[in-house]
Amino acid sequence: MTQVKITDTTLRDAHQSLIATRMRTRDMLPIAEKLDGAGFFSLEVWGGATFDSCIRFLNEDPWERLKSLKETVTNTPLQMLLRGQNLVGYRHYADDVVIKFVEKAAENGIGVFRIFDAVNDIRNMEVSIKTAKKCGAHVQGTISYTTSPVHNTESFVEFAHELASLECDSICIKDMAGLIAPMDAYTLIKSLKKEIGLPVDLHSHSTSGMALMSYMAACNAGVDILDTAFSPFAGGTSQPPTETVVAGLKGTKWDTGLDLVHLIEIKKYFEEIKEKYRGILDPISEKTDTSVLVYQVPGGMLSNLVSQLKEQNAMDKFDDVLIEMPRVREDLGYPPLVTPTSQIVGTQAVMNVLMGERYKVIPKEVREYVRGMYGRSPTPINKAIMDKVLGDEQPITCRPADLIEPELAALEEEARELGLVEKEEDVLTYALYPQVAKKFLKGETEEEELILSVQESVPAGSQLLCNQFKVVVDGEVFKVEVEPTGEMSIHENKSALLTSVEGGIKSNMQGMVLGLKVKSGDAVEEGDVVAVIEAMKMENDIHASHSGIVREIFVKENDFVAAGDVIMVVS
Ligand code: CO
Repeated sequence: MTQVKITDTTLRDAHQSLIATRMRTRDMLPIAEKLDGAGFFSLEVWGGATFDSCIRFLNEDPWERLKSLKETVTNTPLQMLLRGQNLVGYRHYADDVVIKFVEKAAENGIGVFRIFDAVNDIRNMEVSIKTAKKCGAHVQGTISYTTSPVHNTESFVEFAHELASLECDSICIKDMAGLIAPMDAYTLIKSLKKEIGLPVDLHSHSTSGMALMSYMAACNAGVDILDTAFSPFAGGTSQPPTETVVAGLKGTKWDTGLDLVHLIEIKKYFEEIKEKYRGILDPISEKTDTSVLVYQVPGGMLSNLVSQLKEQNAMDKFDDVLIEMPRVREDLGYPPLVTPTSQIVGTQAVMNVLMGERYKVIPKEVREYVRGMYGRSPTPINKAIMDKVLGDEQPITCRPADLIEPELAALEEEARELGLVEKEEDVLTYALYPQVAKKFLKGETEEEELILSVQESVPAGSQLLCNQFKVVVDGEVFKVEVEPTGEMSIHENKSALLTSVEGGIKSNMQGMVLGLKVKSGDAVEEGDVVAVIEAMKMENDIHASHSGIVREIFVKENDFVAAGDVIMVVS
């Protein structure tokens, strides 16, 4: 009766947390049958960052991965992580895209949908939940867990009631930062079991080292499912180890019933796989990181911050950023820190410190968040920031996706015109990631090489002697290549530009030129937006520091610029 079930996350969260979501399908399939035979409640194998990683780095079709796993795994339900209206992308999509995506995921083999929203706004989840239900799947309504003055057992239980009212089959406590303390887990699970009555799954990360204690407390409170990963891919920012949890509960009333010998065989397989990926194993991810308990900066985000600061040549500001993070989070109404709010809060904190003035630069995504486009923040957003971002405008009060017109038909037509559609799913791949998908579906994506050394970034004052470097964003490693253009690049003559150009408008951060808002000969006023730079995965406006005529522009779209680079001359 009280037997605890296990969801194994090795093929999704675990490799996303430890090796930047780089595990290949060919490393999954040979063990799939054995995994299926282990007797797990479900296997988390899809969603989260896996979709993006497949098409961006691995030259793999995520739909094919799902299909081929489904062919082998015939008994155990396959599970995916879905960011509600965000699906597996980085913006909110129109309802028609959400519906189609969920239908196709179910059709291709997803049996359990774990659906969450970064700010626990049910309105961002209802369309995906209802669709998955309609497809006959098990829907795990998910609470994004965090700690703050306004998050407590009552508020989480209240949210769980909303999830239950949408007929979710179970409730997942998603503790993505490994913040849940044992007694808090106990109290929350006890209350959920009593008030809601649905099966409860605890998903935690070993980041702070508390997860195993919390899992035990969860058992005491009557938890139904625990999330674990095979030991080679467990610990650190990943889940607690499967074999350990199974052995620990053996012979108790929570006995998982799983066979340790069978599990050890699987573990041996993953030990070998781990060696293949040793080069991209991020040492920060493997550590027990107790600073998360004070700063609430989860491991993945910590390495992200480090890389953002290195990128901007400002590692000396690391401690300041750590202190700034919780302040920004408070300003923004205590969002739980998970994609995409983790990037939103993290990047704003970095900006605030780098600029030497709080909210001097506010990335587009932060503005959208303040406008209410990501949903309702847990507490009201700081009034001064609201005023600064919105001026006279009012934040939206409706469901954010109500403002998005149906977009599937237009995207499909676009994709077909580009010759990208061979199967229906290709339309969805294109809808979610137009840029990356175009390249992928044309067959122009090359599989990233396996031998990587992680955490290199461009050294201070680099003249880009190498043309490749890596950027870590929220635990994901992005390999960036800079193609020589034949023309003298801004980097090559940077020092000359920096010192000698009068009227130069400088980029205040390192990033990629996303767009130019002016052309040569245009008149600009001080404060006008002249260019948009994508830095730290956010869009940032570059303003004219003075009025005048644009005399010369040194950059074009997709160029990389460093902090302090002169991008144009206005005089
Ligand atoms: Co997780």
